Amino acid sequence: MINLNHQLDLIRQSPTVAMADRVNSLKAQGEKIIGLQTGDPDFPTHPGIQNVAMKALRGGWTHYGPSRGFLDVRQAVAAKLDRDNGVTYDPESEILMTHGGIHAYYIAMQSLINPGDDVLIPDPSYATHVNMAIMLRANAIRVPSLPENGFLPSIDAWERALTPNTRVMVINYPSNPTGVYPSYDYLKMLQDFASANHLWVVSDEVYENLYYEHHPICASKFFGAKDRTILIHSLSKTYAMTGWRVGYLAATVSVIENALKAGQNSITCVAPFIQKAAAFALGDPEIQQYAALMRENYLRRRDRILQVSTEYQSSKVAITPPMGAFYFFLDMRALKMSSIEICERILNDAKVGLVPGAAFGQHGEGFVRMTTAASDDEVEAGFRKIIEWAETH
Ligand SMILES: Cc1ncc(COP(=O)(O)O)c(C=O)c1O
Repeated sequence: MINLNHQLDLIRQSPTVAMADRVNSLKAQGEKIIGLQTGDPDFPTHPGIQNVAMKALRGGWTHYGPSRGFLDVRQAVAAKLDRDNGVTYDPESEILMTHGGIHAYYIAMQSLINPGDDVLIPDPSYATHVNMAIMLRANAIRVPSLPENGFLPSIDAWERALTPNTRVMVINYPSNPTGVYPSYDYLKMLQDFASANHLWVVSDEVYENLYYEHHPICASKFFGAKDRTILIHSLSKTYAMTGWRVGYLAATVSVIENALKAGQNSITCVAPFIQKAAAFALGDPEIQQYAALMRENYLRRRDRILQVSTEYQSSKVAITPPMGAFYFFLDMRALKMSSIEICERILNDAKVGLVPGAAFGQHGEGFVRMTTAASDDEVEAGFRKIIEWAETH
């Protein structure tokens, strides 16, 4: 037997990445595939951000920087959190720059978790939330987040999942894969639940700028919530900067001090020229307009899909209109096939790449995730192909 870390045997390769690899290899063989599997904006990073990065590169911002991030960058983060989210964080001590949202989540969880702790995570949800908990030798307890309940776990479901070892709850609104985000009252209820049970709330808000209804409410914006809530943020989705790998954590000082150790000993720092570009992206008014323009594009595609869905009146593909993010979580349970089989067959027959709902948890079974982060034409043509395929099965 090879002597490796067996904890990683408990984790499967990311089905999103696996599907992207398959779509790319089919495309390389000359197949015409509509790839609606990846959550990566189809827009370029704004040239203004690129210019700042290039100037910083040429200006010598090419050495190690402080592990927390430069103070001016953290000040830009604090100003953004105040402006967009209505929450106050001290740039000196309550903010830490990270390699994207995924790394922010990783070091947040490293800062909180001891082996054997229980962590509550809705099902379905972004697979990394569970995988990271497992990597840290915690137990991920899934909280059913059912379509019948608008993809939000009922308070009873949270209560039932609770154990004496539960120390953390993870939430992600707007949600990948469902696009749902809750009302003020629901979030208040979650914070009351966390407070009553002495839980940390890790809130992944990387889709906060992609909303089609009221502005999503920041999880720490409740009385007393800041002391138990860790905010996970990223520039990836809001500013079409997925490849830049930059995000940040906002939390109370004790968590940031732990996260600083975790960050220092894993990445040292976020590349200084990237940090400078991030500060510009977060603060510049023209860039905020660009972000709003991208949101309008996702909204137009979402509305188009809703119209097409009404046009077909399909009994095989049901839709809960997403409130945010850039995904549709298509309910294809009527086909009575596994979500993997549905995705395989749609890829083979209709030439559309999707992600099986089971990748997000057992309650995602029978669903598939389709992104709207592709051109208007691709999104509409892909969706039509999915429905037309489903109607013949
Ligand atoms: C819910 C959620 N959190 C975090 C991430 C990671 O984003 P980043 O590129 O900032 O690491 C993603 C990416 O798809 C996501 O869907």
